[in-house]
Amino acid sequence: MTIIAPSILASDFASLGDEIRSIEAAGADWVHIDIMDGHFVPNLTFGPPVVAMIRPVTKLFFDAHLMVENPQSLFPALAAAGADRITVHAEACVHLQRTLSEIKGLGMKAGVALNPQTPLSVLEYILDDIDLVLIMTINPGFGGQSFLPSMLPKLRQLREMLERHGRQDIHVQVDGGINAETAALVREAGANSLVAGTYIFGHENRAAAIASLR
Ligand code: DX5
Ligand code: ZN
Repeated sequence: MTIIAPSILASDFASLGDEIRSIEAAGADWVHIDIMDGHFVPNLTFGPPVVAMIRPVTKLFFDAHLMVENPQSLFPALAAAGADRITVHAEACVHLQRTLSEIKGLGMKAGVALNPQTPLSVLEYILDDIDLVLIMTINPGFGGQSFLPSMLPKLRQLREMLERHGRQDIHVQVDGGINAETAALVREAGANSLVAGTYIFGHENRAAAIASLR
């Protein structure tokens, strides 16, 4: 079953609690939380205090995607706020293996995100430290961008890599430009976890939107 993770970046921040209740009622599996610092990406969102405030609203799994420099400085506060997984960008981590160990040491799951141009080879020696790879299907920073079809062969190669290592249990997530059409393409190419912001929150029937991604 495909795991659907609506990105609250596309929600109405003035009604964040209600927006989260709405996607839970619509059948979402995880809440995808985009944390941006205005440095790693040219946009700024929210941090641990907001995550802590939305934690009592839902029992859904909190999937935090950190688009920040020095992500490790946020790990303790995000753990305390109730994040279930932290996904860091390989491009932001000089000591990636150590960074992943720190996340797990705080009791959270750890994922690695790759920008479109970053090769899969950066994953080769850290597969034992993660439970998710996030293949960015846009350049991170903003919702509402167009899906990059050049990421489809990358997804297929990632599936081959995971098979070669006997790690088919690792989630293959995509993020950016996902709608009913691109969802079919990425699922065929091997993705099992789909992040979608604009498509789900912009849809008049969010349950139908989520069902159409599966
Ligand atoms: C962008 C974020 C995405 C974003 C996706 O940097 O990581 O999660 O919200 O938005 P859509 O689904 O609108 O492309
Ligand atoms: Zn994201």
